[in-house]
Amino acid sequence: MSAVEFQSKDFLSGVRAALIATGMEPQDLELELTETVLMQDAESAVVTLLALKAMGVRVAIDDFGTGYSSFTYLRRFPVDTLKVGQSFVQEITADPEGSTLVGAMISIGKSLKQRVVAAAQVVTPVEGESWLTHLHRSFDDTSMGKSSRVYGPPAPMPGEWPLRNPALQLSNKFTGQSTTLHGSDLYRFKCQGCHGASGAGDPPEINSVIDPVRATSAKMYIERMKKVGMDVTSKEAVPLAKQANAMLLDRLHKGGTDMPSPNPNLTDAEVRSLFAYLRQLAGIPGAERQQVPVVEPALRVGEHIVKSTCHICHASVGHNPSPQELAEGQIPPLSSLTSRLSLNEFVTKVTVGTPVLEGSFAIPVRGHMPVFTYLTPDEVADAYLYLSLYPPRN
Ligand code: HEC
Ligand code: HEC
Repeated sequence: MSAVEFQSKDFLSGVRAALIATGMEPQDLELELTETVLMQDAESAVVTLLALKAMGVRVAIDDFGTGYSSFTYLRRFPVDTLKVGQSFVQEITADPEGSTLVGAMISIGKSLKQRVVAAAQVVTPVEGESWLTHLHRSFDDTSMGKSSRVYGPPAPMPGEWPLRNPALQLSNKFTGQSTTLHGSDLYRFKCQGCHGASGAGDPPEINSVIDPVRATSAKMYIERMKKVGMDVTSKEAVPLAKQANAMLLDRLHKGGTDMPSPNPNLTDAEVRSLFAYLRQLAGIPGAERQQVPVVEPALRVGEHIVKSTCHICHASVGHNPSPQELAEGQIPPLSSLTSRLSLNEFVTKVTVGTPVLEGSFAIPVRGHMPVFTYLTPDEVADAYLYLSLYPPRN
């Protein structure tokens, strides 16, 4: 396969279509790629390979060792078969340390296989209209999704070209595999877009989360009442705290009238983790020592971000706006983003606000989408991976 084919934005959808058209089982398909093709844009290659793996397709690297080999990347490329090039074999067998190298390659290969299996979970595609459309609100008359309040620089004027387009910087930990999250991460993915980093929200439209969370602490309630000269016993305070606790849990499962119900549904571990962080955010004494880590696959991370943050403004499917319509304020559907933009364009647009080049004149469009400086490039790459593997549905 050529580099052009592999790097094309339609590559993954093409593979998916070919599998459907031929009725072939994904595991019967093995794609052979050369190291040179992969190394041309190694960061994007990692994501594409992970997407292929998650589809169940087998991947082989042909002629390994003949091009510009990088063990750092080899470790991150989820491949099933590594075909070592002839010249490389001759080289390493002549070298006394060669056998160690072969050993290392085999162990890398083994550990990859084990890690890859972890991917598929109860992840489902994002569906339906955006939350703003659901509420009949236009982008300009709501603060939902804007509470990061960090707007990047405006689109550069033609005189300022060439554009600053920071190259994609995924950390070398980015393998698209499971990561350990804390409640603070779940809060960033699922709540921060509306309630802000401090939890204060944007009253009167978006209430603060602090008071309802403080109400879950009997101790805090007693102290607060003491300050206003009232003595409350813990026998009186505990049932109130329990009631507040139940209300907060209910909110985490069902949402509110103007607040979406958490999507995807939170697992018990996620609820406990988020809850523990909310208590820390509200300043409940000792809460910081009770944080609960959860291990989540990359696709689940992507699912959280897309469904809880991006879906506030972006519908899942719909008309793919022209550059003109985009400039007039239309918001493209999530289904169009991965075919319209490369991984690099997607990640830099979301994390730094780099303008997207639109239309045949490649006009830089930087609309009014907030810049999500609180999401890392790795996390946004997870969102891209998720959107490519689970195409949004109506
Ligand atoms: C799309 C925006 C949005 C997102 C995302 C969101 N909320 Fe809300 N939240 C609201 C709005 C609007 C209200 C007030 C109206 C209502 O209750 O529906 C609210 C109210 C609340 C309240 C009740 C406050 C009170 O005074 O009773 C709590 C608690 C809360 N949110 C917690 C959360 C948590 C935790 C998350 C993340 C899992 C979250 N919210 C995500 C918009 C959002
Ligand atoms: C507060 C509303 C809002 C939220 C939340 C939001 N977006 Fe956007 N997004 C927009 C608007 C408006 C545009 C079109 C104008 C522009 O480019 O800023 C846009 C455009 C984009 C584009 C450029 C598409 C193109 O072809 O030009 C990408 C990529 C994108 N959003 C990704 C995301 C991702 C990923 C998330 C979730 C982390 C997200 N957006 C959350 C409002 C939002």
